[in-house]
Amino acid sequence: MSASDVPLLEARGISRHFGTVSALTDVNLVVRPGEVVGLVGDNGAGKSTLLKILCGAVQPSSGELFIDGEPVRFHSPKDSRALGIEVVYQDLALATELSVAENVFLGRERKRDGFLGRLGMLDRRRMASEAATTLESLAIEIHSVQARCGLLSGGQRQAVAVARAIMWGSKVLFLDEATAALAVMEAEKIGALVTEVAKRDVGVLLVSHNMPQVHELCDRIIVLLRGRVVAELKRGEASVQDIVMWITGAAAARG
Ligand SMILES: Nc1ncnc2c1ncn2[C@@H]1O[C@H](COP(=O)(O)OP(=O)(O)OP(=O)(O)O)[C@@H](O)[C@H]1O
Ligand SMILES: [Mg+2]
Repeated sequence: MSASDVPLLEARGISRHFGTVSALTDVNLVVRPGEVVGLVGDNGAGKSTLLKILCGAVQPSSGELFIDGEPVRFHSPKDSRALGIEVVYQDLALATELSVAENVFLGRERKRDGFLGRLGMLDRRRMASEAATTLESLAIEIHSVQARCGLLSGGQRQAVAVARAIMWGSKVLFLDEATAALAVMEAEKIGALVTEVAKRDVGVLLVSHNMPQVHELCDRIIVLLRGRVVAELKRGEASVQDIVMWITGAAAARG
């Protein structure tokens, strides 16, 4: 097995119940370097629960997780972030009062060199220039990294959140309905960003109800139906219509 065959992330036999509700049953999933994997299913199919388990926000009732082939146990999203998993949510956690550059460096601020740094003085110029370089390399159009995030559009904020994850060397990026609230053009830009990120060998797990976009972007699509994986479709194997039939259960019924 070559290095690139070892999945960045693997879930084996993941189940989760909430009281009598089986949200997930025996789910297997892998994400490899540079792969965009779609996770689709109807409302309540278990997509967000699975994502939360994969990042440590929710504990599985049973099953195992592996990062780079090594078994891991996440007690919180802090644990998964330390191993390179970053989540971008629809209602994302950017600090709206801070600038783009400040958001990109939030919690990882660069100090000035020498005495001033030891006094806690921040190197704002360096942070601004590094943030600008990252945004530019990802073709993210924001007029100034000094702009307050609260003034950006939803799509620009998503892009900043993705840039932040990339800048800090995330290996796997989860997007949960990241484009749901976006206008068509902005959703397309985030789509292009996902493709760009995957070129850097980051694995992307994309939860979305936007079937044309999933169909276009994903190398593989995993379909959940009432908490079970009912189909795993490779790029080119299924039309948008086929995916919808798997989601509704019509494809399985048709046999
Ligand atoms: N904390 C919880 N307590 C009880 N039930 C829960 C909890 N979280 C999720 N569930 C249940 O688990 C099932 C899966 O929910 P989940 O949010 O994972 O679905 P989803 O696929 O993300 O749906 P959507 O497309 O609407 O976001 C649902 O029946 C939901 O009600
Ligand atoms: Mg959800």
